[in-house]
Amino acid sequence: MNASATKGIVLAGGRNLRLHPATIAVCKQLLPVYDKPMVYYPLTTLMLGGIRDILIVSTPKDTPRLEDLLGDGSQWGMRLSFAVQDEPRGLAHAFIVGRDFIDDDPVALILGDNIFFGSELSRLSQQAIRDNRGATVFTYPVKDPRQFGVLRVDAEGRPVDLEEKPSIPKSNLAVTGLYVYDNEVVSVAESLRPSPRGELEITDLNRVYLKRGLLDVVQFGRGMAWLDTGTPESLLEASQFVQTIEHRQGFKIACPEEVAWRMGWLSDADLVTLADSLAPGDYGNYLRGLAAEGETV
Ligand code: TTP
Repeated sequence: MNASATKGIVLAGGRNLRLHPATIAVCKQLLPVYDKPMVYYPLTTLMLGGIRDILIVSTPKDTPRLEDLLGDGSQWGMRLSFAVQDEPRGLAHAFIVGRDFIDDDPVALILGDNIFFGSELSRLSQQAIRDNRGATVFTYPVKDPRQFGVLRVDAEGRPVDLEEKPSIPKSNLAVTGLYVYDNEVVSVAESLRPSPRGELEITDLNRVYLKRGLLDVVQFGRGMAWLDTGTPESLLEASQFVQTIEHRQGFKIACPEEVAWRMGWLSDADLVTLADSLAPGDYGNYLRGLAAEGETV
């Protein structure tokens, strides 16, 4: 499978109830996580996986705002499209909204409020996209798995059991908001029935692949960070995490201009042009600094 053919979807709508009143007028994916909009984080995670053709799915009100922010992607050497989800009908509904965009290709899905950080991220996601047989999920060890999809694996790391929000979890491996699928995912999503809460559940979809013996697992280890930003506390913690790392290292996390440049989609000169198009300030200076230092950074 060719990594470059895999498309990406960022699911950036939802109800955002846990962040009310901050999200009454605007979706959380447009709120800042420290120094940049939240949606930059999942977007750059897909970009680091080598994905250049990405669909952003959001609410009727927020989709035009996300389009205002992100444009058509050409400024970053990529292609961005936008689609409206009329109601939050569940994570697996993304494949129905994105059916035409996906066309005949494999697709990766990332949730718009998930932040991944770690030196292994790029390698592991590129490898998973390249090697994907049916579906690939990425797990992360958590202290309290009860609020997540929980995966149990055998001694060889093969998945044996997948449960949504179990009261007694059989493992500490939470299924994160990053998934890779073959092109069958559209018909699998179409075959799902809504759950008691009225949503097409990604766990039900992943169970279909598990039953078919086509679910693979990549276990992110403790050297990675996986942060959620869905509550006031977790949003603040994520901002503080990003601030701490950025101040210490001098590198920005999830800067799409930088990722596009590192992926070879933008030249040094393109980066300077982008920097000049921004208001004077730290962010533009950072991009100019990268371009000036070139390959040494
Ligand atoms: P959730 O955390 O399940 O839901 P939510 O963000 O609406 O939050 P809350 O519980 O506070 O109401 O969603 C995970 C991500 O997926 C988030 O980025 C929103 C997005 N999403 C959609 O875009 N459409 C949907 O139908 C659902 C369920 C979620």
